[in-house]
Amino acid sequence: MVAQAQNFVCQSCGAAFARWAGRCDACGEWNTLVGENAAAAPRAPRKGRRFAIEPLKGEAQETPRLASGLAEFDRVTGGGLVRGSALLLGGDPGIGKSTLLIEVAAAFARHRHRAVYISGEEAVAQVRLRAERLGLTDAAVELAAETSVEDIIATLAHGPTPRLLVIDSIQTMWTQAVEAAPGTVTQVRGAAGELIRFAKRSGAAVILVGHVTKDGQIAGPRVVEHMVDAVLSFEGEGAQQFRILRAIKNRFGPTDEIGVFEMTGAGLREVANPSALFLSERELGSSGTAVFAGIEGTRPLLVEIQALVAPTTLGTPRRAVVGWDPNRLSMVLAVLEAHCGVRLSGHDVYLNVAGGLRIQEPAADVAAAAALVSSLAHAPLPADAVYFGEVSLSGAVRPVPQTAARLKEAQKLGFAKAIAPEAAPGEVFTGFSLVTIDTLASLVVDIARDGTPTLRRVGRQDS
Ligand code: TYD
Ligand code: MG
Repeated sequence: MVAQAQNFVCQSCGAAFARWAGRCDACGEWNTLVGENAAAAPRAPRKGRRFAIEPLKGEAQETPRLASGLAEFDRVTGGGLVRGSALLLGGDPGIGKSTLLIEVAAAFARHRHRAVYISGEEAVAQVRLRAERLGLTDAAVELAAETSVEDIIATLAHGPTPRLLVIDSIQTMWTQAVEAAPGTVTQVRGAAGELIRFAKRSGAAVILVGHVTKDGQIAGPRVVEHMVDAVLSFEGEGAQQFRILRAIKNRFGPTDEIGVFEMTGAGLREVANPSALFLSERELGSSGTAVFAGIEGTRPLLVEIQALVAPTTLGTPRRAVVGWDPNRLSMVLAVLEAHCGVRLSGHDVYLNVAGGLRIQEPAADVAAAAALVSSLAHAPLPADAVYFGEVSLSGAVRPVPQTAARLKEAQKLGFAKAIAPEAAPGEVFTGFSLVTIDTLASLVVDIARDGTPTLRRVGRQDS
């Protein structure tokens, strides 16, 4: 037999090629192909085994879950960790993944579930030091600093099956099953495969930590995303204290829920009322900001949208967005130009969602437009108003779901009125003024006039 050919594997997406190239054909990244020895020991062909095939109709089982008791974590996982499932927690280095998971492990241990935390990055003493700082030393979490997957699985085979196994991080693990060097995509994939098989076999819930690096040079956890049952991402904005836990993929739950934490000197604090946090640094009375009453998953969330519109000095004006979809900004700008007489082609436009939140809802269109027009007209918006609604290409403001929940949250935080499309029948929330708008043009006229939309239709309904 000819010697095993060298395989070139993209360290970003995991695609394998027979020949080296500067650019990965699969994902388009540059300089990510690395030669890896793909030689798995040749196996003797195995004869197929017959298995039972079952009808679709039959006994269905509720997925057995175990809640950690950390409400924000449980919300994002869809109610807790599923037995025998594997979850990947991704995030930038230093964002707080290890902190979050030692807290989760401690929560399990406090409920007398066996929780094992394996660190491939830090010594046991370091993990202990962190636990001390977090006030978790009383929790019976089992610790080890290990990187060999075979040794970890062999060790865990003794004693009761852990309910939770945390592997921090998957990039530091290696398995003898593949020959590639530690840290390469082949190793990460091999080690993850072994650990996921362990989860399925034993019924333990396994959480793998994966570092995401911007440059894509290091074997990213991208390849692991397809293998696990759920992918969570832990995000935060630079110096800010908020951390947002988001489900990107979840075979056992929704993917639109977010969990909000605050990084404090004594670990992560759960934020039960994120709207108050996101609005805490609001500057009242300045133009270019609008409060958006949004919905994240099942939870209403108020957040400030900031816009800056300034005459450009460039041939092509700048458009920069943080926390929102740039395509939606382009659309809103086009509608403002085409249907509302707002010319922005000579202006740079910056849009920012305060607090490091990323908004995906189309309902933010109206709030973004209000902030943009407010900035352009130097007209501050009323401090007690929230905005929401989807804008169509024709310039109409379209209804969005869950009006009542948005209004209720706004009222709870001291707002008095909402500028929004008509609520669906049965979505009426009493005791709050809803200023309904049906075109973006009417909103623009109102803001430009004096910065205060006239209350054309005040819906102070009595029930
Ligand atoms: P860590 O959990 O180690 O991040 P990751 O595992 O994602 O790399 O957290 C690192 C940062 O969190 C570090 O900069 C210090 C900060 N931190 C606090 O502010 N308070 C704390 O109680 C802890 C444990 C960490
Ligand atoms: Mg860490």
